Amino acid sequence: MTFEQLLGVPLPIIQAPMAGVQGSALATAVSRAGGLGSLPGAMLAPDALRAELTAMSARSGRPFNVNFFCHATPQRERQREMEWRAMLAPYYAELGIDPETVPVGPERSPFSHETADTLEEFRPAVVSFHFGLPSEDLLVRVRRWGAKILSSATTVDEARWLESRGVDAVIAQGLEAGGHRGMFLSRDLNTQIGTLALVPQIVRAVKVPVIAAGGIADAKGVRAALQLGAAGVQVGTAYLLCPEATTSALHRTALTSEGARATALTNVFTGGVARGIVNRIMLELGPISPFAPDFPLAASAVAPLRARAESLGRSDFSPLWAGQNTTGCKEVSATALTEELVHEV
Ligand SMILES: Cc1cc2nc3c(=O)[nH]c(=O)nc-3n(C[C@H](O)[C@H](O)[C@H](O)COP(=O)(O)O)c2cc1C
Repeated sequence: MTFEQLLGVPLPIIQAPMAGVQGSALATAVSRAGGLGSLPGAMLAPDALRAELTAMSARSGRPFNVNFFCHATPQRERQREMEWRAMLAPYYAELGIDPETVPVGPERSPFSHETADTLEEFRPAVVSFHFGLPSEDLLVRVRRWGAKILSSATTVDEARWLESRGVDAVIAQGLEAGGHRGMFLSRDLNTQIGTLALVPQIVRAVKVPVIAAGGIADAKGVRAALQLGAAGVQVGTAYLLCPEATTSALHRTALTSEGARATALTNVFTGGVARGIVNRIMLELGPISPFAPDFPLAASAVAPLRARAESLGRSDFSPLWAGQNTTGCKEVSATALTEELVHEV
């Protein structure tokens, strides 16, 4: 099955869903350009999700993807929470934040029946997941309106697991990728391998189409991924400077700096392992901290530090998510970038 037959778009490009740095504007622009635009739903409350879906449906007129996380929310452990806050205490003091005012609570909810209720009204053509898949009853609901289902695999085992649960395509997320790693069967970082090694192995292991993600930033990268047997690509980092993205000014500055060449996997922002440009909190507490509570519980204690530091023009506590290849980041419209990605492909 071709990419177009599978997802209903002419170009073999999926704009990666990127929670926190884009909404319907970027997704609409990519879908209009002939790729598959993605709306990240992981951090949207039900009302915000509905508003974004309404905007997408009205403006795009083309197939689009809506993305959700489907992690198991861990039990909050008091001891671990206290240890984490103790690690952050010097920063609260430095920035004049009263630790008593720092809220406790997950900031990212997994895909649920409530979310499915909203989604059902809009019947998006594609729904993609990160961190595995939701329960079978939720998948049945999504399939009922004919949506194609995608999810990220970071290993051959995860790809096989996803195929056995009926996904329509597997997104092979190589180690180069920016943002959270979709890993869900193992926590061992040694299982995580680069796109060049991962894509052909997953292509061999599963029958469903494979979409390559991680480090793909230009038309040559797209061609290479297709050569490796991918049916299409999912590109995130390269879109971060587009005017349609909501990437903050501090994040944009970091992406265009020399420092963008040094990214690392870190868990200090959310508890989940994600790739971002190395900054102060990553250097001082990690990049991997044994004290960070499991995803997404680490996030609420860091959020006020980020907010206060950003108000002072500092990105010391901001997640500067980016992949290893920022050479494709350009301040051009998402339409132009999408067209460039498929130049002579
Ligand atoms: C800023 C940023 C945010 C991301 N957020 C999400 C997300 O919400 N959901 C998701 O499935 N993947 C997310 N990802 C990962 C992408 O789906 C994809 O794997 C990655 O962007 C591909 O590698 P690249 O960044 O090198 O193009 C994010 C990536 C970035 C850079």
